Amino acid sequence: MLRIGDVQLENPLLLAPIAGYCDLPFRLIVRSLRGPSGGVGLACTDLLCPQAVLRETDTTMWLAATNDDDRPVCMQLYGRHPDVMGAAAQWAEAHGAVTIDINMGCPVDKVTKKNGGSKLLTEPCVALDVARACVEAVNVPVTAKIRLGWDDDSYITKTLPVALADVGIAAVTVHGRTTEQKFRDHVRLPGITEVVESVGKRHPNVPVIGNGDVKSPHDAKHMMDVTGCAGVMIGRGALGQPWLFRDAAHYLATGQLLDPLPRLDRAQVVLDHFETMLRFRDERRAVNMIRTRISWYSKFLQPWPGLRREVHHIKSANEFRDYWSAGMERLASEEPAEALVA
Ligand SMILES: Cc1cc2nc3c(=O)[nH]c(=O)nc-3n(C[C@H](O)[C@H](O)[C@H](O)COP(=O)(O)O)c2cc1C
Repeated sequence: MLRIGDVQLENPLLLAPIAGYCDLPFRLIVRSLRGPSGGVGLACTDLLCPQAVLRETDTTMWLAATNDDDRPVCMQLYGRHPDVMGAAAQWAEAHGAVTIDINMGCPVDKVTKKNGGSKLLTEPCVALDVARACVEAVNVPVTAKIRLGWDDDSYITKTLPVALADVGIAAVTVHGRTTEQKFRDHVRLPGITEVVESVGKRHPNVPVIGNGDVKSPHDAKHMMDVTGCAGVMIGRGALGQPWLFRDAAHYLATGQLLDPLPRLDRAQVVLDHFETMLRFRDERRAVNMIRTRISWYSKFLQPWPGLRREVHHIKSANEFRDYWSAGMERLASEEPAEALVA
């Protein structure tokens, strides 16, 4: 079973950081969805700016928000200044992180222009200084999330991951694309295999976690079987179906697929998600948040004519609750037929 340093995970499935999406309410919803073989093994905050962490700005405190039900949680930091990253890692450890991840994979200009994220792939000495500083600053395991390289001509799959493990990085997550690819094309499993093999030769206790395009229990198993990675991190695939961890955990553990979650239960997940948002955010924000989330959930609630369009016009919590209750009543009346189809 997947172990990161001295942190034993319940299963090898991790929720990826997705800026703007994998916040505390979403992580709590993911964690609540457990099957006979469990749910998510480890969930990560979105990327945090270390300077903002140390200043405890409102925005970053929201991104870093966690609580006792949100365990085990990883906090992710990005940046290139070893001392600031080390200090922010200490803050994260003091505020509940059981692991701390260094973002070396973000391709977004806002991050790479500050020489953070995947820019570090092009500056291995800086990446290693940052990693060493974080490892020395805290007692919890520090991990790194990378891509295959900046572009096709600069793969780092056989070099940087091993060097990161040499300085004490406890696990490496690799998104099987280059920075230049952003999110285009398909994930490249051979690149993930290269990381697994190069790290495994020198550091057999440092797990490599594969990431990219996992949208089903089969995808998760396929990535592990083909690349030999010790775990799988799932991002976009979970945004509309947070129950994916429950399904994939069961499939990995038993080789059997659970019955699909009925549509009515899926709709209940959305309502629970909204009520959880309201526990932590004001009404206006929660309503805006659920409106953006519906575009992800929508695919898994079909047929629901007009769903995205109608939710887009909703302005208050009660309006959403009324609309959703009516929708769920309709689903309940259709559910027996649904169950037969499933
Ligand atoms: C909108 C968006 C925001 C993301 N934010 C982060 C982030 O904060 N930190 C990070 O390491 N990766 C981030 N990623 C990358 C994901 O964690 C993941 O590596 C990538 O989406 C591939 O995995 P997936 O196909 O399972 O989504 C983001 C991706 C998207 C699409």
